[in-house]
Amino acid sequence: MSLNSVIKWGCFLVVSIPIASGLAGFVSAQPGNKDDDRIINGQEVSISQVPWQVAVVSSSEPNDFYAQSCGASILSENWILTAAHCFVFADQPNTAAADIEILAGVTTLGESGSSRTSVQQIIAHPSYDPSTTNNDIALLKLAAPVGLNGTSKKPIALPFEQLTATWPAANTPATVSGWGNTSATESAYPQALMAAEVDVLTSPSETQCGSYPTGEYVPDTMLCAAEMTVGKDACQGDSGGPLAVEVAGTWTLAGIVSWGYGCADPQYPGVYTRVTSFLDWIKSEAPELDPDYGDNEEEEEEEEEVTNGLPVWLLYEATK
Ligand code: ARG
Repeated sequence: MSLNSVIKWGCFLVVSIPIASGLAGFVSAQPGNKDDDRIINGQEVSISQVPWQVAVVSSSEPNDFYAQSCGASILSENWILTAAHCFVFADQPNTAAADIEILAGVTTLGESGSSRTSVQQIIAHPSYDPSTTNNDIALLKLAAPVGLNGTSKKPIALPFEQLTATWPAANTPATVSGWGNTSATESAYPQALMAAEVDVLTSPSETQCGSYPTGEYVPDTMLCAAEMTVGKDACQGDSGGPLAVEVAGTWTLAGIVSWGYGCADPQYPGVYTRVTSFLDWIKSEAPELDPDYGDNEEEEEEEEEVTNGLPVWLLYEATK
């Protein structure tokens, strides 16, 4: 087993046994057990600061804290975007839609009164490869609308307007959030939502991410980001969650938490799914997310004819 598979296996463990990892986190999150490493070197945030963030929870576990296995982002009332590796495995059956639910509008896991939304379909990318974690992206089609409210449940924009060959550029600041592990050395899962500001480290054309061996980081489909000075990073349990970039006031989804060797290791940055590479796939699975959805080409042509010439009624008047 390579180092890579050992570390990645660590995150599959969190996904497949959320109860065990959640329990460990709960113990260290108890009051009195002071853990100021709000992390990995992030800070507590309110869901209204990252209202596109949702948790993927196991339907069979009623306590949200124990049930949380991955993060995800709201794209619309009915569509959630996350990582394929949360549901598709090399060595065990894939997760079924009935096994998971979505928790939206929540800052603290395990508080009473939260309500969950059922998932109708898990659509993992057909080229997702569990052995390399390449093409690590999945859409969740909700069984009922998530209930957008403009404050704690809001969609994040997809980068349809961005130039995929150059966006996001190296050094672009980005925010990663989630309920994943807050410690790089032990299990310390928070109940409170955390976020950290990291930097995009490589432009879309750069082939090297930190010290990852050539070939493991695939620039076409992956994005490399971290904060190197104090060591901010995503970690186990954050998978599927958003890497968000603010573009002229609009928060835009640049990446999906995917993998890394350990967490906040200065040699090994966080690796994210590069969202700009999957816009066509997203549009094909969820056509209503396409900004051009509903535009009727025939109608447009007719409109053009009318505006280029005389309005129909005037033509009629003129020939009378
Ligand atoms: N695979 C992990 C998960 O399932 C995410 C790992 C992210 N690691 C990192 N160093 N950024 O939660």
